[in-house]
Amino acid sequence: MAKRTLSRLDVANKRALVRVDFNIPIEQGVEVIASYDQRLRATLPTIRYLLERNCRVVLCSHLGRPGGKVAEELRLAPVGDRLAELLGHPVRNLKDCIGPEVAEEVNRLEGGQVALLENLRFHPGEEKNDPDFVKGLAALADCFVMDAFAVAHRAHASTVGIVTELPSAMGLLVQREVEEMGRALESPASPLAALMGGAKVSDKILVLENLLDKLDHLFIGGGMAVTFLKARGLETGASTVEEDRLDFAREVMERAAARNIGVHLPQDVVIANSFEAEPAESRTVPVEQVPEGWFIMDVGMETAGRFASGLKECRTIIWNGPMGVFEMPRFSQGTRVVANAIADLPGITTVVGGGSTAEAVEELGLMDGMTHVSTGGGASLEFLEGRELPGIAALPDL
Ligand code: 3PG
Repeated sequence: MAKRTLSRLDVANKRALVRVDFNIPIEQGVEVIASYDQRLRATLPTIRYLLERNCRVVLCSHLGRPGGKVAEELRLAPVGDRLAELLGHPVRNLKDCIGPEVAEEVNRLEGGQVALLENLRFHPGEEKNDPDFVKGLAALADCFVMDAFAVAHRAHASTVGIVTELPSAMGLLVQREVEEMGRALESPASPLAALMGGAKVSDKILVLENLLDKLDHLFIGGGMAVTFLKARGLETGASTVEEDRLDFAREVMERAAARNIGVHLPQDVVIANSFEAEPAESRTVPVEQVPEGWFIMDVGMETAGRFASGLKECRTIIWNGPMGVFEMPRFSQGTRVVANAIADLPGITTVVGGGSTAEAVEELGLMDGMTHVSTGGGASLEFLEGRELPGIAALPDL
C-alpha cells in the first residue's frame, strides 16, 4: 500500500519534526564531513519544501552507536554546521533532543527557522522505542516527516513510535528511494542486470534470492566472487572462501543456467602477496593462475572491460558492492572502470545500493551520473531483499 506523501500532510506554519539520517563517518574527523555529505544533501529538498511553507523545522538524527549515553565525539553540531552551509540557511544546534530546555528553544523558533536536535541515541529510549521518550519528542512538534530512509530498517522511537503520536508522512527523500528502488525491483526495463560485489556472499544471499529470477544478467566481482570461483572448482590462493556458502553459490549458478540468466565471473584478477594497501608484490593473472598464498584484491582490467560492455547492453542495472578492495587505492581500479562505464548512460536506469558502493560512487564524483544512489546501507540491502522496512510500514497509508 502506498504511504502518505508530504504533499498530503498539513504542514503550513507548523512545527515539523523531521527524522533524517545524518549518520556519516565523523570518526575520520570533522573536516572530512564535506566529502561524505550525500546524506545531508539528500534531505535538502524536504527541508526547503517545509521552509517554503513557513514551518519551524526541527531535525532529528542519530550518529554512530553511543549506546544510550552521551559520547562527546558523536555530537551532531559539526554536521549541523555543514548542513547550514549546504542549505545556505542557519541551523541551530541544540544541546539535547528532549526535555523542557529543548522545548523552550524549539518554541522560540520562528516560521522558516531550522534547529537540529542532539544525537537521539544519547538516550536509551530511542533504540528501545520507549513510550516516554516518544512523548518527549512528540511534544516538540505538530507533525512528523520521515525522511531517514537509511534508518528505516530500525524500529526505534524516532522512526516507528513517533508515528503513533503525530500526523505523519514520508519526506521527499524516502519517497524517491521507495519509488526508484521499487521500480527497479517491480517493473524494470529489461534487460535487467545485477552487479554484485563487496566482501561476502553471506551479506547478499537474500538479495540474490529475491532478484535472481527477475534478472537477465548477474555480474559478480569483489570478495564474494572468490566463493563463486571456488565453487566453479578454481584455486583461489589465500583469499577468504566462505566454505558454508559454496553450495549456495553452486545453486545460484545452476538456477541461473536453467533460466538462461548470464552469470559473469572475473576472468582475470589483481592479486597481492599480502592483504594490505601496499603489498611487496601485486600483479594481474588469469583466474586459473592464482598462486597459493596470494590474495585476490580486485577484478583485472579485462574483466572490468567485459563487465562494462556487458552492462551497457542492459536497460536497468542494480549495483551493490565494490569490485575490489576499493578503500585501498591500488585495488580500486576495477570499481572505478565499471562505475565510470555505467555513469551517464542515456536511457539506462542505474540504481546503486548505499553503504560502501555509494561511498565509492561519491568518492569518484559520479553521484549525478547514476539514476539513483541510495542513502541506505543496511536499509537498501533489506529493501532489495524484498523485506518491509518498519520505519516505512509504520507510516499512514495514502
Ligand atoms: C546506517 O548508517 O546504516 C544507518 O544510519 C543505521 O545505523 P545503525 O546500523 O547504527 O542502526
